[in-house]
Amino acid sequence: MTEKMFKEMYEAGETPWELHRPDRNLIEMVKERAIPPGPALDIGCGTGENSIWLAGQGFTVTGCDITELAIRQAMAKAARENAACTFLRLNFLTDDVPGAPFTFLFVRGCFHSFDSVADRRRFAEKSARLLAKEGLWLSLIGNADERRDSPGPPQRSALDIVSAVEKSFEILLLAAGHFDTNRAAAHRNWICLMKKRA
Ligand SMILES: C[S@@+](CC[C@H](N)C(=O)[O-])C[C@H]1O[C@@H](n2cnc3c(N)ncnc32)[C@H](O)[C@@H]1O
Repeated sequence: MTEKMFKEMYEAGETPWELHRPDRNLIEMVKERAIPPGPALDIGCGTGENSIWLAGQGFTVTGCDITELAIRQAMAKAARENAACTFLRLNFLTDDVPGAPFTFLFVRGCFHSFDSVADRRRFAEKSARLLAKEGLWLSLIGNADERRDSPGPPQRSALDIVSAVEKSFEILLLAAGHFDTNRAAAHRNWICLMKKRA
């Protein structure tokens, strides 16, 4: 998906991924794995709900997104909720990301929006560069095993994920699950927890 497509979707209010609350997969993983608070980066943070939740758990959060309107909405939400997050409009693949090293990266639905193998590999390599030693990356990714007859999130295979991340990350978990949703039917996802290789 392109920058222009995201811009148009936010402007039209057609953002089916938006929950207006934090994602349950994130909450469960942070709690179950006891991921310790530290500097965190939410890549493709959208309107910031997950960043704001992480800040509430004691993480020092930077949220970044390529879409100006999403970042403006995230800033307004954080101000309303008195959440101490830093939100930046930037292109994760090409721009410098201040605040590194991070101990935790969270990505819900941004990694899977890159269609090319090369871009997904660049995404993973850049993520690794921004992480501290043994830093963790939790990524929620559309699952290509879902058979569907209506639109949904971009779909990636386990092999797509492994081939992009394997060089830079040790995969701690790659599980088939479902995106959190407010709608009747939840799309299948991959829940992928990774640790930066030494
Ligand atoms: C499916 S949305 C998910 C938004 C948010 N994570 C959520 O769960 O509500 C993907 C987000 O990635 C952002 N994005 C796409 N390409 C990006 C890039 N190259 N750099 C930064 N953000 C990007 C889009 O603007 C969009 O907000």
